[in-house]
Amino acid sequence: MDEPTKPISTASSARTRSTVTSKKPTAPRPKGAAQRKPTASATTTATAAARKTTPKRASLATAGAVQVSVEAPPAPVDDMTTAVPTITGVMKRPELPETQWKGGELASNTPPPLPDAPLAVLQANSISAWFGDRKVLDRVDLTMEAGKVTALIGPSGCGKSTFLRILNRMHEMIPSASLAGEVLLDGVDIYDANRRLTQARRDIGMVFQKPNPFPAMSIYDNVIAGLKLTGISASRDTKDQLVESSLTKAGLWKEVRDRLRQPGGGLSGGQQQRLCIARSLAVRPRVLLMDEPCSALDPTSTRVIEETMLELAKEVTIVIVTHNMQQAQRVSDNCAFFLASLGTPGAIVEQGDTAVMFSDPTDPRTLDYVNGRFG
Ligand SMILES: Nc1ncnc2c1ncn2[C@@H]1O[C@H](COP(=O)(O)OP(=O)(O)OP(=O)(O)O)[C@@H](O)[C@H]1O
Ligand SMILES: [Mg+2]
Repeated sequence: MDEPTKPISTASSARTRSTVTSKKPTAPRPKGAAQRKPTASATTTATAAARKTTPKRASLATAGAVQVSVEAPPAPVDDMTTAVPTITGVMKRPELPETQWKGGELASNTPPPLPDAPLAVLQANSISAWFGDRKVLDRVDLTMEAGKVTALIGPSGCGKSTFLRILNRMHEMIPSASLAGEVLLDGVDIYDANRRLTQARRDIGMVFQKPNPFPAMSIYDNVIAGLKLTGISASRDTKDQLVESSLTKAGLWKEVRDRLRQPGGGLSGGQQQRLCIARSLAVRPRVLLMDEPCSALDPTSTRVIEETMLELAKEVTIVIVTHNMQQAQRVSDNCAFFLASLGTPGAIVEQGDTAVMFSDPTDPRTLDYVNGRFG
């Protein structure tokens, strides 16, 4: 079953603004909200549960006459130096209720540690994606298990990065981009109109291919940049604790503890990537998305990051895109093989346990790909 005919008419000046018009009025979406296409998505138990807790979700999918304006961000979003300023405007306010920050103690300057986030499962249901009229992903279903590493593999252009960006609501930052389907974090739709965009971004952090610390900012301030961007004030003690624990988890503490006030741009590429991981961890994400995080790194730095990932998976669900088949086997528990045949949108050919995917896959295309026969 295919999606209904696209209801979206993209404004001619898509570089600066795009407009979605459907049938009946509803509450305006927040600035930057996704253009979302109606879809006949699969109904799962988790979906049903989510709908109980997010009753307005259905109105999103079937919405009528919505006039949605999407501000165009600067491109490319893969560059944190541009991506961060883009989201700064909507990240000014603390988006967690005060109770989730232990009774607002941060606001009153008492130094509590930030709450540990419980492990979470991320579930993508029937995700399709478009750039303008071009469909690039077709009904992708994938469950990324809590506390596990899921690797997304597949040839260039098959939609891995697009899928990853949909998982933390960065896809909608791209002019002309739209999507259908749903993403559930522990059963709750991250695209629900009642949830804040910044909540999804904090719950689901992203590390990019190219390390992108703020180069002139100190190592210390880089780590806590996420707190500043979300407008959370924390005591000096709390910040100190966060900086140390985040850098330790990212496997960088011992190398930088004596130079925390030096600029992040002065670190090596591998260290910068671990600094970016620490920055993501400082806001206590429940899921960490990593788009080819080692592709610009030397083998030693790659090994350190892989070890870091294996440690982190104990407390955060990880999704990694990689072209390195050995890396996928080393770090991932589960694997999903994406493929876009000529002229068709990307889709998952096969997914499952990584060891099985590499030793005894069901689909011959998977066998060919993991053995380097194409791609
Ligand atoms: N901003 C964009 N505007 C228009 N088309 C895009 C944009 N970003 C990606 N695409 C297209 O979407 C498709 C999927 O791209 P995507 O970057 O998700 O692939 P990928 O699997 O991550 O590739 P790679 O392995 O090379 O990184 C491609 O055909 C690409 O050209
Ligand atoms: Mg990519």
